[in-house]
Order: sequence, then C-alpha cells, then structure tokens
Amino acid sequence: MRTVLTRSIAEAAEFIRSGGTVAFPTETVYGLGADVFNVDAVARIFEAKQRPPDNPLIGHISEHGQIDMLAAEISIDASGLIEAFFPGPLTLIVPKTARVPLIATAGLDTIGVRMPSAELAREFLAACGTPVVAPSANLSGRPSPTTWQAVFEDLDGRIDCILQGEATDHGLESTVVDCTIMPPVILRLGSLSIEALRSVVPEIGIHRQDPTLAQRSPGLRYKHYAPNARVVLVDSPSEIGADTGSAYIGLTEPAGEFAETMACGSVEDYAHTVFAFFRKCDKAGIDTIYCQMVSEAGIGAALMDRLRRAASH
Ligand code: TXA
Ligand code: MG
Repeated sequence: MRTVLTRSIAEAAEFIRSGGTVAFPTETVYGLGADVFNVDAVARIFEAKQRPPDNPLIGHISEHGQIDMLAAEISIDASGLIEAFFPGPLTLIVPKTARVPLIATAGLDTIGVRMPSAELAREFLAACGTPVVAPSANLSGRPSPTTWQAVFEDLDGRIDCILQGEATDHGLESTVVDCTIMPPVILRLGSLSIEALRSVVPEIGIHRQDPTLAQRSPGLRYKHYAPNARVVLVDSPSEIGADTGSAYIGLTEPAGEFAETMACGSVEDYAHTVFAFFRKCDKAGIDTIYCQMVSEAGIGAALMDRLRRAASH
C-alpha cells in the first residue's frame, strides 16, 4: 500500500469518507483514524498498528452535535466535564449507542469520546463528516508519535494517508476518565491535569487506587510508551557516572557527557519532548536512557506515569 503524504485537509478527509485510514495531528499526539461506522476501515486500524483486538478505540468528534452519535447516555458529571473541557485533551468513557460497531470498542458496551482542540484536527474531523475512531498512530508498543515523521517511521506502507501538521502541543495522550461509574475515575493520566478535572468534579478518583480497574481500561495492560533502550529513572543527573554511551533527559542540565542530552526548560517542555527523544535514542542505537523524575503536580503526574511504564520494561 502506498501511503500518501499531504497537507490538504480535503484530500485526507476523502480517504476517511471512502473507508481508508488516515493519521492526523491532535493537540496531544498523532492519531490513526477511520470512520467509526465502517467496520472494515476500523479493522484496518488494528491491522496497521498490530494492535491487540481487545484494546478499544477512542471516538473523535468535531462538534457537540456528534456526541449523541456515539454516546447513549451522558451522566451529570460527564456533562459538567464536557462543558468545561471539550474541546481539549480529555476522553470520557460513556455507554455507547447501538450504532457503534463492537470492533471499535473491542466488544465493550462503552466508548471513549473525545473532541480534540487542535485547529487542524477539528477542521479535518469536520471535513470527514463522521466521528472518527483513532488510537495513537504508532505501531503497538512504541512511543506515541508527536510528529508526522514519527508516524511515517512506524506506519509508512501500512496506512492510506498522513495529514502532515506541526509537532503536537502537549506530547502526552489525553486523560481518560470513566464516567460510567459514580464518582468518575481516571483510567489513564494524561495531558489534562487531575487538578483541572477536580476543579469541576472534586471527588474524581484515580485508577492506581483500585487494582480492579486494570480490567476497565484494557490498554493499561499492554506495554506502552517504551523505547527499545532500557529506561532508568534518577532524581538528579549527578547520580549518573560519566557515560558517553547513554542518553539523558530531564530538567537539570547534567555535568557529564552523554551520547544524547536533553535539558528541558519546564515540565511541560519535558512532556512535550519525551516521546520524540525516546525515538531519537532508538534510532541512534542507545542502550540506556536516564530520565530525571519530576514532581507529580499538573502534567508532572502523567509524565511520571509514562516514565515509570517505560522503565518497567
Ligand atoms: O490523546 C489521545 O487520547 C490519542 C489521540 C489520537 O486522541 N489517542 C490515544 O488512543 O492515545 P490510544 O488508543 O492509544 O489509547 C486509548 C486508551 C487505551 O488505554 C484504551 O484502552 C482506553 O483509552 N480506552 C478506549 N476506549 C475505552 C473504553 N471503552 N473503556 C475503557 N478504556 C478505553
Ligand atoms: Mg496508544
């Protein structure tokens, strides 16, 4: 299959309308989209990514009017979160409509609904004229792509089209909140902070406090966000001996020499860069990446979640 690279929204949307697969940028990471109501197209997403069939997809919408096409029911909490954070880096798990095919939700009777805020994503989704299911546009198990080049690296020849945009704003995926239970529970930490969510629904829980929730978000069972290199977490680069064969990313500028070094100006910057840095290190054949830990406030919580997952493989 030839993968078309384009900057034309109309050209990319035409692939979706005719049952194809298209990678497109959102404010979090690039997604790999297909028409949610086209069973064959959705199947091609799983095939292209080599994604386990029991890992459900998120439905992306361009406007509030499309929510009812995916969601059978919106709780009061969900409705408050929609009002506060749509469009934005938030995915809400809600009961699905009968129209949503089970292949999209991996057999679940719920669906993740998200309205991206990135301008290009919104225009693209509007041009598709249908909600679009989209997981992150990486091969299963690889770090999520934050540039179209990273998508190309993983999926060239496996998908119909890449809508080329800029590097994504946040760099970490959306926050996933299960709204089918009361109070709602965060299944995956992400670009929308816990603090922001709790300003609207104060009693919102976090999955880490409830081990049974691993079942609720199948994606959490799989290897994620991991580079090929071994990831080692450190408090400070001063803990690491001189190591010119390894890489370092963190907030503090290291004194020693590394094969690749990334000193980030802020936690936001760190979150924005970390997946691209992992990919760069893999390309350079680096075997160990030292990552400085950060305080778990704001986006720091999601960043630490991704770093821990990467380090546990
Ligand atoms: O920022 C994002 O969320 C990106 C962009 C493209 O929107 N998408 C993304 O999708 O990260 P993906 O498939 O890589 O991750 C979706 C996560 C997985 O952990 C999946 O298991 C969970 O959301 N999920 C999706 N639908 C679910 C459902 N019905 N119930 C529970 N968890 C669900
Ligand atoms: Mg993913």
